[in-house]
Amino acid sequence: MCGIVGYIGKKQAAPILLDGLSKLEYRGYDSAGMAVFDGENIKIEKTPGRLKVLEETTHGGELMPGMIGIGHTRWATHGVPSTENAHPHFNASRSIAVVHNGIIENYIKLKEKMIKRGYKFVSDTDTEVLAHMLDYYYKGDPVEAIIKVMHRVEGSYALGIIFTDCPDDVFAVRKDSPLVIGKGEGENFIASDVPAILKYTRNVYYIQNEEIAKIGTDKIEFFNIDAEPIEKELHRVEWDMNAAEKGGYEFFMMKEMMEQPKVIRDTFTPHIKNNEIVFDELKDADIDFSKLTSLHIVACGSAYHAGFTGKYVIEKMARVPVYVDLASEFRYRNPILGEGDVVVLISQSGETADTKAAIGEAKAKGAKTIAIVNAKGSSMTREADYTIYTEAGPEISVATTKAYSAQLIILYMLAIKLAEEKGTLKEDEKKQLISDLLRLPEQVEMVLNNKERIQKFANRYIAAKDIFFIGRGIDYAIAIEGALKLKEISYIHAEAYAAGELKHGTISLIEENTLVNAVLTQEDLYDKTISNIREVKSRGAFVMAVTNLGHTKIEEVADYVVYIPETNKYFTNTLAIIPLQLFGYFVSAGKGYDVDHPRNLAKSVTVE
Ligand code: BG6
Repeated sequence: MCGIVGYIGKKQAAPILLDGLSKLEYRGYDSAGMAVFDGENIKIEKTPGRLKVLEETTHGGELMPGMIGIGHTRWATHGVPSTENAHPHFNASRSIAVVHNGIIENYIKLKEKMIKRGYKFVSDTDTEVLAHMLDYYYKGDPVEAIIKVMHRVEGSYALGIIFTDCPDDVFAVRKDSPLVIGKGEGENFIASDVPAILKYTRNVYYIQNEEIAKIGTDKIEFFNIDAEPIEKELHRVEWDMNAAEKGGYEFFMMKEMMEQPKVIRDTFTPHIKNNEIVFDELKDADIDFSKLTSLHIVACGSAYHAGFTGKYVIEKMARVPVYVDLASEFRYRNPILGEGDVVVLISQSGETADTKAAIGEAKAKGAKTIAIVNAKGSSMTREADYTIYTEAGPEISVATTKAYSAQLIILYMLAIKLAEEKGTLKEDEKKQLISDLLRLPEQVEMVLNNKERIQKFANRYIAAKDIFFIGRGIDYAIAIEGALKLKEISYIHAEAYAAGELKHGTISLIEENTLVNAVLTQEDLYDKTISNIREVKSRGAFVMAVTNLGHTKIEEVADYVVYIPETNKYFTNTLAIIPLQLFGYFVSAGKGYDVDHPRNLAKSVTVE
């Protein structure tokens, strides 16, 4: 999604804005721009295309002198990627410039009103209406003008604003879209996300909804929507810089795949005490899990796929029906929910618009909401009744890997906890599950160490047009994530199918040498899936199988086998997804694509 950076201090602003925006590129964008105030005028430069174009246009910022500025990378929502539609937007006299992340949902009505008031629009964006409204309401007090605009605007926004009349301040406002305020020494920052300012400061304020920040070189003031001053807590960010850099890998995705053992360990450690699973976040929850008669899981993308695995694991372990929904479907389905229901919402960013909206939908119906989120301080963590954090650290690559793996771990532990509450888990079974959980990091490490072999195999499919992924039960849940990984970064059409479903139509697509990746980790389903492998083989398919060590029978039918270490039948997704992540990565990298920034995709879709 769009990225915002702002600076005020004693250094030249433009180079710092460009550097900050480069750390936000992962959010997906199609144009970029900056506005810098040189003490007299606001100079604005903006270009469609990659950030490099803006860097070249402004000679690395040298052509935009000034020590106060705002920058933006835009992911088009209203209006095609173009110079006119890029941010910053400004009023006619260029005395006000604004950058925005989010959507102004009532902008058409507001635009009509501003046009009636004689304002001329130069872009097709919703954001431009903010620049003209600020102009209209500004009578000398920026905070007052901002508040008047806030009262009239509907939708989501994180804003950075500068006024030529106020040469000592940058203004920041947020409602629903992410924004942090960085406190430096004799300089201060605003940014959509922490990596943009980590190089300069670790001290941040998390501005909340409908709060305004007035940021000077040495002073930061906060106001609420009633213009009352408010005190904010300063937080210290512990992420180290290389956590937001590539650490020597070609792409963030490889770095993040390699971090999965650590991430899995960091995620389960806070929840295993004296060989028991604990969720302190839920200890005061007014939820009686022992009486739970069903559970809802809602998410998007790979987070939804994690939830899909959660369904199988929780139903098998705790014998509680689990309904998994895509957030974009759930929020408009008028879901049948009420008091006593629990909805688990999964999101890496904690900012995905559909998943966020699902929280409101669930709460409106009286359900309790538990968010499983990676990004600390993100919107969903404030809206859900309870939040359980995954500990994946910053995930930069658009295609998620480590955050997905961390989500699985939380779901496994919730399943164990729920099974305990429901009395469906014997003490020795629980101990075995915890011991198997503790072994996962080293087992993931073993599979990752096999990556060169996957690379050789993947190189054979760089020119593939159609690839299928099949599995049954948990193996089907693994297959859908494996297919998405390949699709989103290699642009090869890939579909996952419940193996038993192939014969009802899809098998007609199998041709000579069509690659079918089969997942077989569930003991009770091996033979069924093996017969599905025979079906596709008889139609000419080439079959790669991912299965447990020791299951050598598979070599009678599969053309290429990837073995994963033996683990608990509930946890096999954590191991089997690794070769499929690597497969997608190496096909994409082999095609010469920018693996971390797949075309058309964003790391977090903060608009519908
Ligand atoms: C997509 C991301 O835009 O959103 C996926 O590319 C992600 O990786 C999905 O799974 C949901 O995002 P989040 O932040 O809610 O997990």
